[in-house]
Amino acid sequence: MRIRIEPVSRVFLSAALVHFLIGTTLGALMASNVTWWDSISPYHAELNPFGWLTFLIYGMTYAVLQLFASLRVPWKGLPWIHFVVAEAGVLLIIFGYLAQRPLWIHWGWVCQTSAGILFLIAVMSAVVSSRRSRKLLPPEAISPETPVHVSELDDAPPFTGFYFNLEKGEVRDTDRVAKRGTSLALIVLIVATLFATMDGILHGGDPWLSSKRIRILLFDGWIAGTVLAVSLHLLPRYRPSVAVPSKIAHLAQSIWFIGILLAGILPPAFWLQQLGTRVIGLSFAVIALLYLRRIPSALRQTQPPVKLAWTIAWAFAFILGTCQTLGLRPLSLPAIHLLFLGWITTLVYGVGYVFFPLLLHRFPAFARMASFQVLLSTVGAVLLIIGMVGAESEHAGLFRYALAIGGSSAMAGFFLFALQWSIKRKPRA
Ligand code: HEM
Repeated sequence: MRIRIEPVSRVFLSAALVHFLIGTTLGALMASNVTWWDSISPYHAELNPFGWLTFLIYGMTYAVLQLFASLRVPWKGLPWIHFVVAEAGVLLIIFGYLAQRPLWIHWGWVCQTSAGILFLIAVMSAVVSSRRSRKLLPPEAISPETPVHVSELDDAPPFTGFYFNLEKGEVRDTDRVAKRGTSLALIVLIVATLFATMDGILHGGDPWLSSKRIRILLFDGWIAGTVLAVSLHLLPRYRPSVAVPSKIAHLAQSIWFIGILLAGILPPAFWLQQLGTRVIGLSFAVIALLYLRRIPSALRQTQPPVKLAWTIAWAFAFILGTCQTLGLRPLSLPAIHLLFLGWITTLVYGVGYVFFPLLLHRFPAFARMASFQVLLSTVGAVLLIIGMVGAESEHAGLFRYALAIGGSSAMAGFFLFALQWSIKRKPRA
């Protein structure tokens, strides 16, 4: 059986991988030499959260809509316009910094946020048109309760697959919570856009990433919120009988949203704003605990690297959540890298080994290296974060070694992951 996923998903995914290859290289360069931080940081801070994770969210969402909900965007050109606008945003910002043209950077941000709005319109139009026409995928696509294995896309089965079109009531409940989570995250993106626009008009300059509130809205709100929602959709697709309890997931989501409102809207010096960042941390810790409890049974049938990556990712989320609840600033370097590198990027590895074969129609070229790849990136992330914690301390020299080794290992781990998909493995004869 061959599942045809709209090529735009693949294009978003490929662009995300290219952005991250450059972004991690720049990160490793900064990790090896702190004097480069100021000059390289703006490119890295654009390419990684936006060029990598946001593009990944777009590409995966188009594919997930089609695979899990049988939804297609009615006007096929819209996702392509979305891609062009999003890529124009990244390029304008990067070249704006290179050429020192603030206007290009400004227009880059306008494109970047317009891309978010185009994405919202695309998703909404897919939902509305499916409600109207009840247009489902052809019956041969996927029957309910049937797992689709990558082996069905070709003839070698290195990784087991997902279950689609689930019937279980429990799972539908978590899907509802997840859908609400995706909508809330998109609302947060739009609010961040409005804030940044107002900031730009009132104060001029480059408001987008210089404002703490906007960064919290974008990082802990838009990106983390979407990841929380997508994970809620994905976990039961590995094994339908196991999902996180929907009521607790709903409660944790409400806590997260209250935290985002407090931390992202109130002035930074206000105690309620600081309470908001702790509340966000609490929601991360609670959700992470739920996952850590369920992963052993939910991922029992999946291959070890997938289970390993999910476990490590949620362990990072738990550490981040606990530290943030206890007062770690969400925009400090350790917090940003616990969130983006430790938690989300490791989760992408876990999801990628099962999902990318469906999307890219190819298997990981070095499937046997998958566990080593996950461990290499994990060691890198741990050392990098330890190095960041101690970089300003009395023993900075020692910590800078950790930073340099961690940066290079995290980069090597990602290069190995990217290599898995860049070589087309021949099917067995
Ligand atoms: C190989 C992996 C990575 C390495 C070696 C690395 C290294 C670094 C270093 C050394 C800095 C300090 C620069 C400075 O503060 O001026 C930094 C900043 C930053 N990194 Fe990473 N990073 C990595 C992955 C990521 C990922 C995956 C993301 C997000 C998706 C990310 C987002 C950021 C952001 C937003 C900043 C700017 C923080 C600020 O200016 O306050 N990094 N990174």
